[in-house]
Formats: sequence, C-alpha cells, structure tokens
Amino acid sequence: MSNSYRVAILGATGAVGTELLELLSERNFPLADLKLLASPRSAGKKLLFKGENIPIEPVSEDAFDNVDLVLASAGGSTSKAWAQKIVEKGAVVIDNSSAFRMNPEVPLVVPEVNPEAAAKHQGIIANPNCTTILMALAVYPLHKVKRVLRIVASTYQSASGAGAKAMEEVKIQSQAILNGQEPKSEVFPYPLAFNLFPHNSPLNDYGYCEEEMKMVNETRKIFGSQDIRITATCVRVPVLRAHSEAINLEFESPFSPEEARVILNTSPGVKLVEDWQKNYFPMPYEASGRDEVLVGRIRQDISHPCGLDLWLCGDQIRKGAALNAVQIAELLVEKSILKPQSVAV
Ligand code: A2P
Repeated sequence: MSNSYRVAILGATGAVGTELLELLSERNFPLADLKLLASPRSAGKKLLFKGENIPIEPVSEDAFDNVDLVLASAGGSTSKAWAQKIVEKGAVVIDNSSAFRMNPEVPLVVPEVNPEAAAKHQGIIANPNCTTILMALAVYPLHKVKRVLRIVASTYQSASGAGAKAMEEVKIQSQAILNGQEPKSEVFPYPLAFNLFPHNSPLNDYGYCEEEMKMVNETRKIFGSQDIRITATCVRVPVLRAHSEAINLEFESPFSPEEARVILNTSPGVKLVEDWQKNYFPMPYEASGRDEVLVGRIRQDISHPCGLDLWLCGDQIRKGAALNAVQIAELLVEKSILKPQSVAV
C-alpha cells in the first residue's frame, strides 16, 4: 500500500501544462486522481494521459474540491485569482507564475538548491523564473564551495517562455519570411523569426526589464544571500524551447576552471558538455527535451583574477518550469510534507 494524491493541473493546455502532464506520467507520480483545468476556451477538449482521454474542465471553485495538490501554470492573474481559494479548500499550490515568488511567506524552491525551504510553506510554493532556475543549477554548487560575489548574466531566451502560442507564432513567422511575406506578430511585439530583441517584459525606472529583475531578486532569495551583486541582460532569440545563458562569475577567491569542472561534474541536474578540440559546447537544440542543464565553456575570466565564465543551455519548459514543479511535488511527497488524502493499493 502506498500514498497517492489527487492532483489538478491549472493551465493544462499550455506549453508548461502539457509538459506537466507528460512528466507526471513519465515519473510515475503517485496519483489517485488527475484533473485538467484551463479556460472556458478549452471546454470540450481532451488530453491523453497514460492511454486515457481526460476532458479539460473550465476552472471554477468547485473544481478544487477533493484535490490535494494543484500545479498551476496559467499565468499570474489566474494564479492571483485562484491560489488563496485553492489553499482554503485544503490543497497545496505549486505556482509557476511570478505572482507570489517574492512574497516572504512563500518559499521559492529549486529542489537541488534549497529543498529545505519547501517545508515552510503555508499553502503556496512558488516555482522560480526559468532563466533563474537554469542559472541556479550551475552557479549554486560553485557558490557553496567559494562564495560568489557578483554575477553578470546574458540570456538568449527561446519563444517557449512566452507560451505555446508564442512558439506557434515563430513557426508561422518563419514560414512567412521564407515565402517572401511580411511576418505578423500578435504574441510578441516584433517578429522573432530571423530576429532577436531585448526581453519584452515591462521596464523599470533603471532600465531593467522584469525578466532581468527576476534573475536578480529570485536568485538572491533562492540562495539565501541578499548581498550577491547580480546584473542581467535578457534577450529573446528565435529558438523554440531551450534557453541559453552566458554567465560571468566573480568569487571571493580564485576558482580555477578545473576545480569548477570537478564540482559541476557531480552536481545534481547538471551535465558538463565540453569538447575543446571540436569547439563543441551546449546548444539549445541539444538541451531541448532533456532534464539536465548543459554547462560548458568554463574558462578563466582574463579580466579578473577571481572571475570565471561559463555557458549553459537548459530546456525552459522542462527544468525551467514543469520539471522543477514536479520535483517540488516529489519533494513534498518524499518528506511527507504533502498530506495524502487517499491511499491506493
Ligand atoms: P486555454 O488553452 O484554455 O487558453 P501558455 O502559457 O502556453 O500560453 O498556456 C496558458 C495556459 O493557461 C493554458 O492552458 C490556458 O488555457 C490557461 N489559461 C489562460 N487564461 C486562463 C484563465 N483565465 N483561466 C484558466 N486557465 C487559463
């Protein structure tokens, strides 16, 4: 006999939602029941799960009755509208939106970095921003050995970060351009196919966009180090689903690339990808669909004695979102933080 859980996916039809569904199946999450929720636009649709067609239900208060865990990925406003109501109904919410990430009462969790934070939840656990999760996986193991003082990150972010419709838009734009037509943009402000532009999230008074500030603030919260100096430049690139990041690190004392390789070689969720003879390093194409963050091109920063440069690629939908959320759910089960309300044979 083992415990099993009644789970709902809020935003089941989206890019992250469909991946959540796949991961629950692939990783054999102990399910007693699975509900798929989306907007009324998806009413009547069905999604396949372990050979069974599950109907999509429109989100409503009743939909959260008899649910132990909600994996939410339907955008910030939907999370803000529903999270508290879900908690009042007795379920735990793992929220993929940015709605609660910086709330001091809400743990922001990357299981490989700060699993202990999950136990402090009061109903909501936030899944960090995708670029932040990918960076944390590569930087935290080094930070544990020698404190990182400053991080300079430059990101090359795929369309998937803006959802399934954005991915579709890039494909349609690419076809239009190849056919000699004007590309149309509805999800993004400008054509992304055969183009790139600074991340299209709102800008603050200092000229940083929201995505860049997420990397700054969320990394500090996850690492539990408010004093790390972080700056980022986030850019959208015409890649479908994996993000890339060039990261420059300044440590408290010199950190050799060899030392960093030894550490990252055994760090959970990280895979070293480096063949210097062939100039072969992580690529978003190869990171797509994979669980690990691919890290390589680790080299001494020639401009600073305590500096290190590295390059990484990670699947934005998987470890950057859905996989991290499912790993948090697994952590709750493993540590008996999530109350089982049903028992399966
Ligand atoms: P729907 O497909 O019915 O619009 P993505 O991030 O890939 O764009 O996906 C967003 C997900 O969030 C989809 O499953 C979408 O459902 C869902 N969603 C968007 N708005 C709402 C809402 N107001 N209530 C419930 N689900 C929503």
